[in-house]
Amino acid sequence: MKPWPFPRIIAHRGGGTLAPENTLGGMRKAKKLGFAGVEFDVMLAADATPILMHDETLERTTDGRGAVAETAYRDMLKLDAGSWYSREHAGEPVPSFERAGRLCIALGLWANVEIKPSAGFEAETGTAAALLARALWRGAPVQPLLSSFQPPALAAAKKAVPELARGALTKSIPPDWQSRMQELGCVSLHCDYRMLLPQQARAVRDAGYWLLCYTVNDPATLRVLFDWGVDAIVTDRLDLIPPDFR
Ligand code: G3P
Ligand code: MG
Repeated sequence: MKPWPFPRIIAHRGGGTLAPENTLGGMRKAKKLGFAGVEFDVMLAADATPILMHDETLERTTDGRGAVAETAYRDMLKLDAGSWYSREHAGEPVPSFERAGRLCIALGLWANVEIKPSAGFEAETGTAAALLARALWRGAPVQPLLSSFQPPALAAAKKAVPELARGALTKSIPPDWQSRMQELGCVSLHCDYRMLLPQQARAVRDAGYWLLCYTVNDPATLRVLFDWGVDAIVTDRLDLIPPDFR
């Protein structure tokens, strides 16, 4: 099996807990700390612009209100996605996926693009994220990895841009994981490390798939996971887990 070709330690939601999530400031923070890869969440605004957002509603991470799927991108541009985190980050915009992708490329940051659709927009979000990812990273030496908890989003991404690598996100590893991976043409399985058993880690890797765990915030736990054969992890604790952790 080919070794995992991407960074092994990935900053979760841009800058983990050291910056407001899913912001350009978070990505810059990750870069500054020496991280080589970031994970972020992509959702569609009401006008189908792919933007960075985790929740389906605006309240937790912006000063806006209501559903992301009902807010046009031009209105999102007026929002502050940093004040909830700290005064220092006040005025952080809600980034479009296009801006975030361009920043990753400019900074030399690898991207795990999590397709995070609002309910009912699974296929649309998968298609839009995959098409834009292809356009943004065209000709780039290292391509991003798309991932999603939503099989219809992955199926749509596969249909739109089959050549972009895909990862299947799941909390625990379901009994039918292998057929799901095959159907969706995934190269990697991404699970909650708290639900993972060592024999499952072995089975995934023996079947020829890479294994990524989220969200690992403790070096001792990470040591165990790497011993089990886990290929990569996302972390919130950029201050505790250095990017070159082995
Ligand atoms: O991609 C790993 C991780 O981001 C999945 O959980 O809820 O933080 O998007 P969540
Ligand atoms: Mg995510």
